[in-house]
Parts: sequence; structure tokens; C-alpha cells
Amino acid sequence: MSAPNDHSHDHHDHSHSHDHDHDHPHAPIEDVDDPQRYEYVLETAIRELLIEKGVLTAAAIHRQIDLQDSRTPAMGAKVVARAWTDAAFKARLISEPLETIIDEFKLEISTPLKLVVLENTPDVHNVVVCTLCSCYPRMLLGIPPAWYKSIDYRSRVVVEPRKVLAEFGTVLSPEVEVRVSDSTADLRYLVLPNRPAGTEGFSEEQLAALVTRDAMIGTALV
Ligand code: CO
Repeated sequence: MSAPNDHSHDHHDHSHSHDHDHDHPHAPIEDVDDPQRYEYVLETAIRELLIEKGVLTAAAIHRQIDLQDSRTPAMGAKVVARAWTDAAFKARLISEPLETIIDEFKLEISTPLKLVVLENTPDVHNVVVCTLCSCYPRMLLGIPPAWYKSIDYRSRVVVEPRKVLAEFGTVLSPEVEVRVSDSTADLRYLVLPNRPAGTEGFSEEQLAALVTRDAMIGTALV
């Protein structure tokens, strides 16, 4: 949990070994498809070296890419819907998030990291950012949206969260406390949104269909 003024302390802890594409804040905006781009040349060199040294196989790399591509916010939505309908599951989810999800949904996790579930209540609204780059719970939400990686969002949401949320169309009452959590390479967050009123008779599947990616980042409500 990071207050607007204490998020900078973990930047130097922010390992560069993590599994996501790293759009460094100091890199100029450029053509991401340019094959001469430094990151592509570096990636090719490292990948070929790892294969040559027998550390990785090309098949393992492709399998990992397929796995990443198969992940979508539908996974996170299933988790949220189950938490809304099963109090025992919710309690386990909050105390041992990753273990509970792996156990219940047979989720395959390739890199060990810590997941924290932030439960919204009528009085507290959570929103997630990675102020340094784009750390994100990819195993539950897939690839982060472009705005999540933008310098604009990363810098502003910690300073003026209500204003940024309002720009997403999420206007919160002044009595609701907004908490901004700053992700790191080793720590990812999933927002557990409030279950909407009028959904008492809904099945888990019907509930999951209501849960959007942005609601699990905290920029939207369900
Ligand atoms: Co990051």
C-alpha cells in the first residue's frame, strides 16, 4: 500500500528481471515495431545465447509466449465472481491469494511473485498503478492496456487519483477513501470490486460477465 509520497522508495528495488516488456520511463517514444530497435536486438542476442548455451529451448520460449497470450481478464473475472458468491473462498483468497487461485483454478504460474487482493468496500476504493513501468497481474488480466503503461497515468494517479478516476468516468463520493497501490516486479495487485446491487440471483458465470478489466485495476466500478 503506497501513499502518494512514499512510492518512490521502492524504485531501486525494482528488479529488471521480471517477465514483462519494460517500457522504461526515460526511453523516448518510438516506433515499437522497428526491428532495429535496441530492445529487439538485445532480446534476439540474449535469446539466441540462452538457446545456444542450453539454458532455454526455442520450444519453451514459444510455449511461454502462448501461455502469456492465452491470459485474459476473464481469468480475473472468474476469481472475483467466486469471491462474491463463496465467503470461504474469499477469505482464503485474501489471506493466500496466489496459492488459492492456483489451487482452485489450476492456474499455471511461471514466475514466483506475490499477489495481493485489495478488497473494495462501501468506504474504501482501491486503484492500482506501477509508477516505474508496467507491473501488472498478467496471470489474471493478460497484457496491460496502453494507458496503464503511459507516463500520464503512472505519474498522475498517485497525485490526483480522484481526478484521474473521474476521467475514466468513475466518480466517487467524497466520503469514499481512495487508496493507490504501487506495484513492483515482485508484488502485483488485484482489486476485488464491490458486488453490484441487484445481482442476488445471479450465477457465478453471470457475475463474471459483469467484471471488467478496469474494475480489477480499480479505474472502473462494476
Ligand atoms: Co513495473
